[in-house]
Amino acid sequence: MHVAIVGGTGKEGRGLGLRWARAGHHVLIGSRDVERAKARALEIGGGAVGDDNLAVVAAAEVVVLSVPFSAHESTIASIAPALEGKILVDITVPLKPPKVMQVHLPEGQSCALRAQAALPKSRVVAALHHVGSAHLADVAHRIEGDVLICGDDAAAKEVVVRLIEDLGGRALDAGALCNSIALESMTPVLLYLNKRYGVAGAGLQITGMPPRS
Ligand SMILES: NC(=O)c1ccc[n+]([C@@H]2O[C@H](COP(=O)([O-])OP(=O)(O)OC[C@H]3O[C@@H](n4cnc5c(N)ncnc54)[C@H](OP(=O)(O)O)[C@@H]3O)[C@@H](O)[C@H]2O)c1
Repeated sequence: MHVAIVGGTGKEGRGLGLRWARAGHHVLIGSRDVERAKARALEIGGGAVGDDNLAVVAAAEVVVLSVPFSAHESTIASIAPALEGKILVDITVPLKPPKVMQVHLPEGQSCALRAQAALPKSRVVAALHHVGSAHLADVAHRIEGDVLICGDDAAAKEVVVRLIEDLGGRALDAGALCNSIALESMTPVLLYLNKRYGVAGAGLQITGMPPRS
């Protein structure tokens, strides 16, 4: 599958790119700077290519939005023309520095809901808020936490479930896109747990589910 990562030069995008390229996907690294995108794609290998954000979105079947919350709205506006009809996986957490360990509900209640409102002809799926970049970048490391995803389009969620599995994680369908308010809100809690208990990668595991395959 052709998967574009907008902001793929960053910490989270790097790990996603590494794992999807190794799973055989055609990874497209997006950036505001073409040279930065190309350098990251070269590092990822596996046939990954780099280009500006709009170009990678145009060439992709599925687009992952991986930019800081402060850039969420402006980045969506810049890629919107190429997103029509496509799946947008929004992994943005609405962190409000410096208080990143406290829940911050943005206007519109979640990043994913804001994205869907701005992109009525795209199918937004919220995912990956609880998988840290260090876990992703260590490709030998098994992703132990569950990856909760939500969205209003069942077929789009199925596609994203398979992509998460290709990262080496278990994806659980966590319902409608409005549930992204809960998913995005948990990340500041995990960041607090990291600090409180001196760990680096607190994640989520849902109990009472069928055993992982
Ligand atoms: N890091 C994690 O462990 C983690 C875990 C779960 C979810 N997330 C979420 O994933 C997203 C990306 O996180 P990250 O840690 O990868 O972020 P990051 O490294 O700080 O930034 C990712 C990329 O966003 C682009 N960017 C930065 N500022 C921008 C701006 N003002 N306008 C447009 N693009 C800008 C940059 O790409 P160019 O300069 O090349 O354009 C940068 O490489 C965030 O929303 C975060 O909440 C992160």
